[in-house]
Amino acid sequence: MNILGIDVGGSGIKGAPVDIETGEMLTERIRVKTPKKGEPEPIAEVVKQIAQSFNWNGPIGIGFPAPIKGGVTLMAANVSEKWVGTNADELFTKVTGCECTLINDADAAGLAEMAFGAGRGQPGTVIMITLGTGIGTAIFHRGQLIPNTEFGHLEINGVDAEFRASAFARERDKLSWKKYAKRVNRYLNTMEKLFWPDLFVIGGGISKDSEKFLPLLTIDTPAVPAQLLNGAGIVGAALGALHK
Ligand code: BGC
Repeated sequence: MNILGIDVGGSGIKGAPVDIETGEMLTERIRVKTPKKGEPEPIAEVVKQIAQSFNWNGPIGIGFPAPIKGGVTLMAANVSEKWVGTNADELFTKVTGCECTLINDADAAGLAEMAFGAGRGQPGTVIMITLGTGIGTAIFHRGQLIPNTEFGHLEINGVDAEFRASAFARERDKLSWKKYAKRVNRYLNTMEKLFWPDLFVIGGGISKDSEKFLPLLTIDTPAVPAQLLNGAGIVGAALGALHK
């Protein structure tokens, strides 16, 4: 079965049709810049545009940077406040004319990595961490997802973790990889002391540069890059539509 997977991010909205049995994207992905204020209608229009460029009229799974319950976006950290309380499943379905299902973006990436990537066959506790505009988390035990965890907002010394350790923070503060690794290490060290996971899978746009900072980590838990790299968000968004 094929589902159009779309990953809504703080800077770009990316999509491609996905074969959900194999986890493969069936074409090159399309990327469109995220509309400036990140408001609901303009984002829904971009999703429509991406669907149209694939002549798509089947189901669409959308990864979105917020906790989502019953299709409703509950919080807005890096997108417009207007998302809070919006029934996003309904909005996207109305605008695109296709059946749309939203899932938190990190949960989506985690589902993809557990099914087809670095988490495949991992029996214990696996924590997917996405480092991008914000920090997303997805926690699995024996392959089962606990949805909507928001540990990117864990406060460390009174500061939101994503403010210091997201990929965006590295660029904003012009950090060397060594300095950035130190911040990521601090964050993962706090997480491992709280969850005692068996594996961290590190995803997000920065996963393509993982060899520059993952080897510098000194935490006890193994930390591996997402195998689907940035594609995990798209593939997982498609898988998320199945969970509805
Ligand atoms: C949001 C999360 C999201 C993460 C990654 C955070 O700011 O609160 O819902 O998963 O960014 O995009």
